[in-house]
Amino acid sequence: MAFKLSLSFVGLLSLLEVAVAQSGPWGQCGGSDWPGPTTCVSGWTCTYSNPWYSQCLQGSSTVASSTAVPSTTTSKTTTISSTASPTSTSTSPSGTGLAVIAAAAGKTYFGSATDNPELSDTAYVAQLSNLKDFNQLTAGNSMKWDATEPSRGTFTFTNGDVIANLAKKNGQLLRGMDHKNSTQLRLVQPAPQLGDFWQLQQCHPSVYCGDSLQHCCLPLQGANLYVCFMNEYPHLANPMFLTFADSWDVVNEPFNDDGTWRTSVFGTTIGPSYVNVALNAARAADPAAKLYINDYNLEYNSDKTTAMVNLVKSLLAAGTPIDGVGFQGHLIVGQVPSGFKAAMQQFTDLGLEVAITELDIRMTLPATAALLAQQKADYQNVISICNSLPKCIGVTIWDYTDKYSWVPNTFSGQGAALPWDANLAKKPAYDGIVAGFQ
Ligand code: XIL
Repeated sequence: MAFKLSLSFVGLLSLLEVAVAQSGPWGQCGGSDWPGPTTCVSGWTCTYSNPWYSQCLQGSSTVASSTAVPSTTTSKTTTISSTASPTSTSTSPSGTGLAVIAAAAGKTYFGSATDNPELSDTAYVAQLSNLKDFNQLTAGNSMKWDATEPSRGTFTFTNGDVIANLAKKNGQLLRGMDHKNSTQLRLVQPAPQLGDFWQLQQCHPSVYCGDSLQHCCLPLQGANLYVCFMNEYPHLANPMFLTFADSWDVVNEPFNDDGTWRTSVFGTTIGPSYVNVALNAARAADPAAKLYINDYNLEYNSDKTTAMVNLVKSLLAAGTPIDGVGFQGHLIVGQVPSGFKAAMQQFTDLGLEVAITELDIRMTLPATAALLAQQKADYQNVISICNSLPKCIGVTIWDYTDKYSWVPNTFSGQGAALPWDANLAKKPAYDGIVAGFQ
């Protein structure tokens, strides 16, 4: 149902835009398969952002998107070519690699999270940029609120832009941002985690919502967008630098494991409807984007899963835009939840798409041959679950190498959670992923 609603919304939007012939402020004005207007109203300029998205930004001239969009790239599928060139026009994935195999299985992407510190590691970056394995990136930290506004009123999007630009240079999707794929293409792609409310990485509550709702700003970080209820930051109440996200994790981790609402600055100040507020704001800011809610431990078909299902139902009933649910997938070797597929189906049955957004499968160190073999089986199991559901559109691992995994710093005594070891050598888990897609 959400899918139909989204398409209807976009269809209506397209009709309206065709009727007016020009896109309005901040509106889309070009991109691969974009059916709408390619010029902007007076005072706004159609500005190329990426092969899939051009946007009306403030400026005096009006530029047709046909001149703003390079003809070298045509669609998302071109990103999974047999060469690493982002300008390739091949639409036939070839060679071998996780992204190639995922594409052959009908998935939109196989990707990896990354973070700025490791981008000085040239061997690491070379593999991260290998389109045969990864046609999608997610920013691990640098698009979160604490990174984009380290102190009140001080904004920095530099690190996030570094990752967005790397993905752009490589021809990779950016989760949270590359929502694009024609009407469907445009909406389907996952991007980096664009705008979400990171429960652990917010600015201090008193900075934003402590005094009153009227001074409350909601960050949609990936899009460099802040929605403010008053005019504290009026210049930030519009989207800026909507780079190239295909989907946004608009809300991250809204529930406790028992299904109750997690205490957050947003919930405390606005109430549960902050989710509706955020999703509506995100849709208004970028009508072409897929909008997600993302959480962990949904895989267990637990109270949290039930709470998320009920939230999604209430959003659909209210007409609030919601396109997908992200299953983070931070799992433990030998303990892949038996309810994983059924949990995903609860959302696909409602018409939503799902994705595995932060997959890693950790073990108690030291890694042994037996543990690595079990991990291979676990990766295969998880991937095959996504593979068996057409509406599971892609998988992102939470970085690709044990060298830069968050696990050892978070779970004492555990690690070795990723398909490449700390020396950037493939582990048995790599073959497990391949097998899962087959
Ligand atoms: C983690 C990062 O990987 C760490 O570097 C950081 O210290 C904490 O956040 N779920 C999420 C991600 O949604 O944002 C988290 O990322 C991992 C758990």
